[in-house]
Amino acid sequence: MTTRILAIETSCDETGAAVIEDGRRILSNVVASQEAIHAKYGGVFPEVASRRHIEVIYPIIEEALTQSKVDPQTLDAVAVTRGPGLVGSLLVGVNVAKGLALGLNKPLLGINHIEGHIYAQWLTESAAEIEFPIVVLVVSGGHTELYLMTDHLTYQNLGGTLDDAAGEAYDKVGRVLKLPYPGGPAIDKAAQSGRAAAFNFPRAVRREGYDFSFSGLKTAVLREIQRLNTDDLPIHDLSASFQAAVVDVLIEKTVAAAEEFGARAIHLAGGVSANSQLRRQLGDATSREVRFPPLVLCTDNAAMIGAAAHFRFQAGHRGTLRLDVEPGLRLAG
Ligand code: KG4
Ligand code: ZN
Repeated sequence: MTTRILAIETSCDETGAAVIEDGRRILSNVVASQEAIHAKYGGVFPEVASRRHIEVIYPIIEEALTQSKVDPQTLDAVAVTRGPGLVGSLLVGVNVAKGLALGLNKPLLGINHIEGHIYAQWLTESAAEIEFPIVVLVVSGGHTELYLMTDHLTYQNLGGTLDDAAGEAYDKVGRVLKLPYPGGPAIDKAAQSGRAAAFNFPRAVRREGYDFSFSGLKTAVLREIQRLNTDDLPIHDLSASFQAAVVDVLIEKTVAAAEEFGARAIHLAGGVSANSQLRRQLGDATSREVRFPPLVLCTDNAAMIGAAAHFRFQAGHRGTLRLDVEPGLRLAG
């Protein structure tokens, strides 16, 4: 039987709504990014983010429903991100989703944002070929986590960042290089015409296990900029050298985990998995299957939340209307 889920995502600074059929067909996926609004603060301003979500959430949902051509009465469930994320932003999505689920008399599924990022991969052409176990690297503005996925909805956390997330390091370095916000795509672009060997930034790979640390690297870039002491910074070389250090560490740990656990494939998820060098270099570093979501599904969107919700719905989850936001939610189980 066909299942159709309306999904809502408001965990950070993107307002998203999508209608997903059978966990793999995107009938609509509408995203309103607040990037331009937060750019002048050099980062996400939480109060501004939640206000903006309130302003645009209804038109975004209406647009998603219209584009999908699905009669809301025929939906099987409403799904919404319940965490992790900014509390004020999460509350907007959860409260609107509650109202919709109540009004339409549908189940309300609360979804973990990280699980959403992981399930973006099931919205791609290659979904039918996916076999477990899989090592998944989730790299976003808020998270750098390595998971072993042994089955649907079953995760073992192998390690994570001890300080800054990879995307956060990109954004902070982007700021000191005076690149536009968010730093990730700007550094990715600047690095393309820079020399990765120009500066020898530290790679914290010798650390035991699968934890990551990026604060030392960020400090090293900052020190180099102070040492250079010029208004005419070699932005391209600094970007390329910084990016090489991030990518080397991400790849080394991910490939080692895939070897140790005999993974059938390596999946990448989250905003930083849009990075061109990471996508290129990971494929070269392993003989295992490597899969990335398409670029539009790497950064925050509601389609991925709908995909995760589908697999939860299939597993018998029906959620609750007494859903609470969980800003510090972790992925386990
Ligand atoms: O997944 P996402 O949209 O939001 C969170 O859940 O955090 O990820 C946003 C992060 C930002 O830190 C942004 O700088 C980074 O993803 N990002 C990139 C690229 N595109 C986005 N980082 C490196 N290279 C990129 N091409
Ligand atoms: Zn995200």
